[in-house]
Amino acid sequence: MKKRNGGVHSKDEIRYIVDGFTNGDIPDYQMSAWLMCVYFNGMNKEETLELTNTMADSGDRLDLSRIDGIKVDKHSTGGVGDKTTFIVAPILASLGVPIAKMSGRGLGHTGGTIDKLESIEGFNVSISENEFIDNVNNIKLSLVGQTGNLAPADKKIYALRDVTAAVDSLPLIASSIMSKKLAAGADVIVLDVKCGSGAFMKDENSASALAKTMVDIGNGAGRRTYGIITDMNEPLGCKVGNALELYEAIEVLKLNNLDNVDYGIKRLLEVSLTLAAYMLMGASSVSYDEARRTCEEAITSGKALDKFAEFVAAQGGNKDMIYNPDKLPKARYIVPVYMEKEGYIASCNTSEVGMVNLILGGGRETKESKIDLAVGIDIRKHIGDYVKVDEVFAYIHADDESIIEEAKQRLINAYKLSAEKVEPEKIIKGVVE
Ligand code: URA
Repeated sequence: MKKRNGGVHSKDEIRYIVDGFTNGDIPDYQMSAWLMCVYFNGMNKEETLELTNTMADSGDRLDLSRIDGIKVDKHSTGGVGDKTTFIVAPILASLGVPIAKMSGRGLGHTGGTIDKLESIEGFNVSISENEFIDNVNNIKLSLVGQTGNLAPADKKIYALRDVTAAVDSLPLIASSIMSKKLAAGADVIVLDVKCGSGAFMKDENSASALAKTMVDIGNGAGRRTYGIITDMNEPLGCKVGNALELYEAIEVLKLNNLDNVDYGIKRLLEVSLTLAAYMLMGASSVSYDEARRTCEEAITSGKALDKFAEFVAAQGGNKDMIYNPDKLPKARYIVPVYMEKEGYIASCNTSEVGMVNLILGGGRETKESKIDLAVGIDIRKHIGDYVKVDEVFAYIHADDESIIEEAKQRLINAYKLSAEKVEPEKIIKGVVE
């Protein structure tokens, strides 16, 4: 009733509600009524921080105290073709910054880091906590799947929000994401807040508000937090699909000159280097420009690629696949896609491109779906490019021949063409410090 009437909860009231729901004392119907009140009446900064801390306290908090140095984490709010972790994490680790990261699996139109890593033969995403910590101490980098007992209150609350139209509430999204980040233990958190047709937040104002709310929570909880708002009005880079995305990240790590790169790679590189530079700034006291230069050198010197191979080997993976990414899983059919008329690419329904990957078998409809790591889409043209009818627009990588035509058509329909040249969106839309 208090939240329905626009009141502000005390810390104790928030703990009472969250703990009561998590342990079963508060039934679903009362909790969903409360969540809907929050949806309409919001929460202030203190309430949002308390909700986050209570959810983070509801399960295990990862103890990273055995790891030397300032631990840095990154999180993406989810998009299509987002493979920045494979670029950013080895850059930082090659510079001596410890990265102890828990990542998720893909669901719906968005991909998941853990699935992509499983494209590497032998790679183990569920090593023990001791091994995880030892690897970070020894080689500065380990990446594992999220353990079952991280912020269980969030898991239970999210399941209820999902079926009661209460997901897209700013304090609820921000606290949900940040509760898992706080429980995962890093000292510095860099958030990649995606904005556009493939993201949770479609417009810049809402992405910026989400970034600000999450940065306030992080800082309020004593973690140095940055929010980088990045464009998701088309897939990031060129490739969408599990092994394909890993392939593209390796292509970036192999660059020895960052100046003459394809436009798609340039956007991917820009997001990756911005995130990496903020992570390095968070871990040390260097300026942005200095951090950025250092991160660029980690790529061009080959140090980040070697670190990625070392990390893969440390978790049982075949590191030969990193130096020779052509050995990653490949689909049976690689089919060119042409546009039906010519013109400038004006816009992209990015989540639909993610859905094309899903129907090819590369994504999950439900948590239980099995996925095909080899399939996906390789996009050769981007917003602002002119495309002719006899020019390859993209390649579909498929294992099931019967789905190719539908995938092609849905991909074509996901793009709008125009007779006038359209300027692409800026890739970095803002930074919240
Ligand atoms: N991702 C989360 O983890 N929680 C939300 O509420 C939305 C996106």
